[in-house]
Amino acid sequence: MKKLAKTINVTLKVWRQPGPEAKGYFETIVAKNISVHMSFIEMLDTVNEQLTLDGKDPIAFDNDCREGICGTCGAVVDGRAHGPQKATTLCQLHMRQFSDGDTIVVEPFRARAFKVVKDLVVDRSAFDKIIQAGGYISVNTGGAPDGNAIPIPQDIADKAMDAAACIGCGACVAACPSASAMLFVSGKISQLALLPQGKPEAARRALSMVKVMDTGGFGNCSNHRECENACPKELSIVNIARLNREFFKAGFLSNEI
Ligand code: SF4
Ligand code: FES
Repeated sequence: MKKLAKTINVTLKVWRQPGPEAKGYFETIVAKNISVHMSFIEMLDTVNEQLTLDGKDPIAFDNDCREGICGTCGAVVDGRAHGPQKATTLCQLHMRQFSDGDTIVVEPFRARAFKVVKDLVVDRSAFDKIIQAGGYISVNTGGAPDGNAIPIPQDIADKAMDAAACIGCGACVAACPSASAMLFVSGKISQLALLPQGKPEAARRALSMVKVMDTGGFGNCSNHRECENACPKELSIVNIARLNREFFKAGFLSNEI
C-alpha cells in the first residue's frame, strides 16, 4: 500500500492586489513542508507566517469559523470555487487533496458584484443587501413549543432544511458564467416560503429580494448548473425553479409591481 507523505511542497500562484483600484497580478510563492493534514486556510497561515518573517505583506483572505458553517471563506483554487473537493468549503479542504510538487492557482471569487478588496478578499455586501430586502420573517412566531404545535409534512420540512443549508459564501456566483445570484436567493426564498411562518410575507419577499438582486450587479441564470456543482452545501437548482414560481405568483397576486 502506498504510504501517504506527511508533508508536501507546493508552489502557489496566488492573486495579489493591494486594493480595490490597484492592478492585480499573480505572485509565485513556494510553500514548503506543508502537513497534508492542514486545511487550505492553515496552509495559507503558514505561508503568511513566513511572508511576515521575511518582511513581506501577508496574503489577505477571509475566514472565521473554519468549520464550513459561516460562509466567510472562499477563493477559486485551480479554477474551482472552494477548490477541487465537492461539497467542501475552502476551510474544510485539506492539503491531502494535493500532491507533492503541485502548482496551485489561487484567485479571489470573480464577479462584478463582488469587488476585490485585497488579494483574496472580496466585498460580498451585495448579498447582505438582498437579505435586508426580505430574507427574514417579521411576524411573531412565538417560542419553540408554538412552532412544534404546527404540523409540517416531513418532505416539506426536509426541503426547507435543505434550502436553509446555504451559508451565503458566494461560490455559486463565482462559478456561474453569468455571475448569477439565483441559487443563493432561491435558497433564502425557499426556506421561508415552504414553511407556514414564512407564507404571509412570501409575495412581498420574492418581489423585493429579486428587485435588489437585479440591481446588485448579478447576471441572470443561464442554466449551466455550475452554481449547484460549486455549492459547498449542495443546494439544488430545484430551488431556482421554486424561486421563479414564487416570483411569478407574487407578480399575479400583488399590486406592488
Ligand atoms: S447557494 Fe451554496 S454556493 Fe451559493 S451562497 Fe449558498 S452555500 Fe454558497
Ligand atoms: S471559515 Fe467559515 S465556512 Fe469557511
